[in-house]
Formats: sequence, C-alpha cells, structure tokens
Amino acid sequence: MVKVPGDKSISHRALMFGALARGVTRIRGLLESEDVINTAKALQALGAPVEQVGDEWHVTGRGIGGLSQPESPLDFGNSGTGARLMLGIIAGNAVTVQMVGDPSLSSRPMGRVLKPLAQMGLEVDDGRDRLPLTAHGSAELVPIEYVLPVPSAQVKSAVLLAGLHTAGATTVVESEPTRDHTERMLGYFGAAPEITDKDGKRYITVQGEPDLTARDLSVPVDPSSAAFLAAAAAIVPGSDITIEGLLMNPTRIGFYETLREMGADITFSNHRDECGEDVADMRVRHAPLMGINVPGERAPSMIDEYPILAVVAAFADGRTVMEGLGELKVKESDRLAATVAGLVVNGVDAVADGDTLIVTGGDGVKGGGTVKTHLDHRMAMAFLTMGLASREPVTVDDTTMVATSFPAFMPLMRGLGARFSGEGAEA
Ligand code: S3P
Repeated sequence: MVKVPGDKSISHRALMFGALARGVTRIRGLLESEDVINTAKALQALGAPVEQVGDEWHVTGRGIGGLSQPESPLDFGNSGTGARLMLGIIAGNAVTVQMVGDPSLSSRPMGRVLKPLAQMGLEVDDGRDRLPLTAHGSAELVPIEYVLPVPSAQVKSAVLLAGLHTAGATTVVESEPTRDHTERMLGYFGAAPEITDKDGKRYITVQGEPDLTARDLSVPVDPSSAAFLAAAAAIVPGSDITIEGLLMNPTRIGFYETLREMGADITFSNHRDECGEDVADMRVRHAPLMGINVPGERAPSMIDEYPILAVVAAFADGRTVMEGLGELKVKESDRLAATVAGLVVNGVDAVADGDTLIVTGGDGVKGGGTVKTHLDHRMAMAFLTMGLASREPVTVDDTTMVATSFPAFMPLMRGLGARFSGEGAEA
C-alpha cells in the first residue's frame, strides 16, 4: 500500500473556497507542497486566516468580497494554478496586489486570464501580461459570457471565481471538457453552477454574490502524482503496488485509460464518493506494454501526465503517437521540447512534429544521460522514474522543484526499492 499525497488542484481550491465562505472550513489530506502553501500564505495575507491544526488545515472565510488589502507582495512561487485562480478572486475585491513568482512562473502567459478579467473590471498596471504585475481589484465587477479560446481549467476557474463577485450571472463556454473541480466545489459549498451542454459545447453559469457555507473537506489522492508510481510499477518487472483513495474524476484519469490501452495491468476497486469527488483504490502490476495512438481529445484529461507517459512509451513495443499537445508548451517549462530532449539524451527515439509527440520503444532504454528539468517538477519526477528501469542510471540536473507538488516523492520511491545517488539526482 502506497500513501500518495492529496490532489494539487483540489487543495488550492479547498483553501480558496474556504476563504470565500462564511465560517471555518476544515480540510483533511491537504497537499502540503510549496505551491499549495503559497496559496495558503496569499489568502492569509488577504485577511483569511489559514492554520494547521494537527493533520487538518482550517481556513476562516471572509465571505464573497470580504478580503482585505495585503501589506506586501504575494509570492506564488512556481504555481500557475495559484496565480491564475487568485487573480479571479483578487479581481472581485477592492484591493491592490503585487504578484510575483519564480522565473518559470514569470515566463508563463497570464494574458489568458487577464483578458476576460479585464472585461469584468480588473486593472493591471502597465498592461503587463506576465508576473511580476500589480493588479487592482474592484468591488463592482461586471458579469460576462466568455468562450474559452484554450482548453484551460485555470482560465475557466478564474472567470467563474470572479463571477461570484458580480451582481449577475457569469457564463464560461468550453468546447473541450477540462477538469471540473471548481464546478464541483461550488456545489459542495452550496452554490452549484448551472451546466448545460449544447452543440458540443458546455455552458457553465454561476450566479454572483452567493452565500458560500464553510464545509469539512477531505482531499483525494492526486492522480497526477500517483501517475509516477503507476508508471514505475508498469515499467519495472515484478512490480505490484496499490494506491488507496485515488481521485477518479473523469476529467483527470486519461493517463490510466491510456496505460490500460497500452497493456498495463491496472484494476480499480472500492469506488466511493468523497466530498463530491469519485475515488477508488488502484492496483498496478507490471505487464508488457505496446505503443498506441493517444487522441488529442484526451489531452485535457491527462495534460500534466505527458512527460511520464512519454517515459512509459519508451519502454513499450512500437510507436506511441500523442496528438494535440500545444498546451504542453506553456506549462512550468516547454514540456514538449524538454521531454523530447530528455528522451533523446538517454538514447530513446523521440520526436516532436508540431503539436504531436512520437516515441518509439522496443528495446528497453539505454539511459546514461543528464536531463535538463527547467524548474519543472514533473520533468524531474518523470525522468527519475525512467532511471528505475533503464540500463544505465538517468541523471536529472535539479530535484528541488519536486517540492512544489510532491515533497515525499523521493522517500516514497526509496521505500518501494528505488535507489537515488548523490543528492538524489540520479535514479
Ligand atoms: C490546473 C489546470 C491545468 C493543469 C494544472 C492545474 C488546475 O492547467 O495543467 O497543473 O488546477 O486548474 P490549464 O488550466 O492551463 O490547462
């Protein structure tokens, strides 16, 4: 049995909804990683106390529009989710906030959230579309209807969160389903959005100024973190692991569907509901794998899992073709380019053709290369996992970013028999 930490997307949202509700929200299983702690600190600085009480986190909510002026800049570190969703909240409060982040976050596009938020009334100094920036929220935000130009749950969530701060109905239209934790959590806190499907599009409408009521929450296991362990079990002969309480939200489990299509031995049991999310226990055993075509429509449901899927593909027999990966280029690093480079330097046949990634496996993986991680936690974890089954060890240039999403990754892998040398940078 392996204990994998709580879901990052749900952890950020649990803290944020707790701050927007009235009363004390108690969260169990919060992911205690750098990204999530930065969100907690930001909310605290905005006047919503967040405290650790035993193995729970308690957030004292201030109600919609009840946040106050922070005294210093808010630092979101490496976290796009923290920065973008908080922009939606900041937009609806009469505060001026300086937002900063690390070099990775400071290079990522913020225009995708600032554009709709500007239509609603948020102002940003000097027209900046990257961090650092200074944002002026407003107590008089206006509702909009916004058609998502990119399949992004962060953009959807930022607009919906801002919409809660308007005196009307705000609608987000998405043509490809993205993770729906914001919608589910709105329902859990007592303000379920209206969701209609029409002409292949989804219309999500929130009514402004709801009374959100504090709730007790339990955060399920993160399928994006569990993916590294599942991948390790799939590629290392003799493996057999079980992960309890895995989040089974259909907008998040494309990776497991894909692994199964490749021949992986994965079974789910004990399905149940936890605080509005589906969870189950998962068992993964080693089995021979084969290359497949992964359709672009599946990308949003496994968008963070492509680096580790590409690693698995290197151990599968034949070609794995992964389509529709444009969004990978604007993650914590350009994950498409970085994944290809990491595979090639370790002797794997991998190529990117536009937004398509093609990996050809068949003869195991040579290894022996050093992978550049570009301040990207998932690059580090994907390639350390590759080193568990390659002929020669794999080296990654930096493991510090692992702490942004999965601080226990290396000890946990060690507990399963992995060997890391040096500062833990070689597997
Ligand atoms: C997230 C959405 C995804 C994902 C990120 C977390 C979220 O980003 O890559 O790790 O919690 O909403 P996009 O919204 O940019 O697709």
